[in-house]
Amino acid sequence: MDKIVKIIKGTGFSSITAQEIEIMEDYLYCIDEKGMIKKRLAPSDKQYNLFLQEAKALDTLVELKKGQYLLPGFIDLHIHAPQWGQSGTALDIPLHEWLNTYTFPLESKFKDSVFAEKVYSHLVDTLLAHGTTTGLYFATIHEEASYQLAEICARKGQRGLVGKIVMDDLEQNPDYYCDKDTQIALEDTERFIKRVKALQPEIKQGVYPVVIPRFVPSCTDRALKGLGELAAAYDVHVTSHCSESDWEHGYVKNRFGKNDAQVLNDFGLLTDKSVMAHCNFLSDADALTFKEQGTAIAHCPISNAYFANSVIPIKKFHDLGVEVGLGTDLSGGYDPSIYSAIRQAIISARMLEDGVDTKKSPAERSDKEPSRITAKEAFYFATAGGGESLSLPIGRLAENYAFDAQVIDTTIAHASMPIFEDSEPLEDTFQKLLYLTKRENITSVWVQGEKIRK
Ligand code: GUN
Ligand code: FE
Repeated sequence: MDKIVKIIKGTGFSSITAQEIEIMEDYLYCIDEKGMIKKRLAPSDKQYNLFLQEAKALDTLVELKKGQYLLPGFIDLHIHAPQWGQSGTALDIPLHEWLNTYTFPLESKFKDSVFAEKVYSHLVDTLLAHGTTTGLYFATIHEEASYQLAEICARKGQRGLVGKIVMDDLEQNPDYYCDKDTQIALEDTERFIKRVKALQPEIKQGVYPVVIPRFVPSCTDRALKGLGELAAAYDVHVTSHCSESDWEHGYVKNRFGKNDAQVLNDFGLLTDKSVMAHCNFLSDADALTFKEQGTAIAHCPISNAYFANSVIPIKKFHDLGVEVGLGTDLSGGYDPSIYSAIRQAIISARMLEDGVDTKKSPAERSDKEPSRITAKEAFYFATAGGGESLSLPIGRLAENYAFDAQVIDTTIAHASMPIFEDSEPLEDTFQKLLYLTKRENITSVWVQGEKIRK
């Protein structure tokens, strides 16, 4: 049995189901050499005092202070790393124009590895500072810069899932930014997978290669087929965009006579290690395919407000049995914080349920099904749901999960929270953490049992 090398004592919150959280007052989280939670003890457990005294004697105890709380590290299932430099700008035109006007020119600059290093380092630091301990990243078409991003995650201690993206359709992509040859794009992807796999044994928290057709419109059939084969051959994660906007969903229907989900599935790109961003236009049959394949939705509520022409009925899809996690979709979403994604997911779902057109009666105005989500559900998507989406033991402060955590200090100067009574129910404090936490409140971050900030 691996021995316990560290014990963290504090009050934490973790999902049991999407509807239910555990409130763990003054628990001990006992971490083994691999950074896993080997044992979790409540004050009522017989062994509690023994473990506590021993950790004190060995100086392996980390004790949270009054007013500090532990949450699982967040999982961001959809980040465009190269777009970080334009976050907070350029959200004024529809998706197709946005890609061609702002985004492709920016991404093409990542053939310069000095530039890539600067942007990617700043991004990974920023995400960690916001409590994001795992990121699923789209890089660019450039193999070298994509590999640099994987190395940066590895070095900085974040769990990174990273892919070189493929865009090989010469008619759909600008000539200054596309894979000029399908065979070479597939070879680059395969070499990238091998290189990142070679990094893996040295990296405690894990770094993973990902197969990424940018989205169906950017890829030829041959590339989609080849990428599905690579995903199967190397048993790696897959990600892409799926049924995101009117234009994109319509384009795929026009080309194939089917929805994105069926096209991706036909090419072997929907597996239990697949995560598909947006999915606003998924049909119920598509959702069933996702469920059968174990494919997850990366729900990106901020970006959806700009580019998806709609609000996704995320509650319905989750209730149908589809795995769901959250994504910032930087820079389609402007905010690097998964806290903001949690808040927007709740707000968007509420507006979907109520409707927006006051010229209609409340009954006509509202969605016909209950579509709001609770703070607990949004928290679940940001943590345990993200872990399940990636098929990794992350996202819960529970035994046999990686100790990925963020410490939230509700008392710090200039960002203290409105908690005025010692008797405040922890259930209320939990909600305040979700709604009011700012970057400054996140005073330390742990990944795989290692404290990587402060
Ligand atoms: N579809 C294809 N590429 C992109 C992208 O970079 N962002 C978003 N939101 N959708 C896309
Ligand atoms: Fe995206």
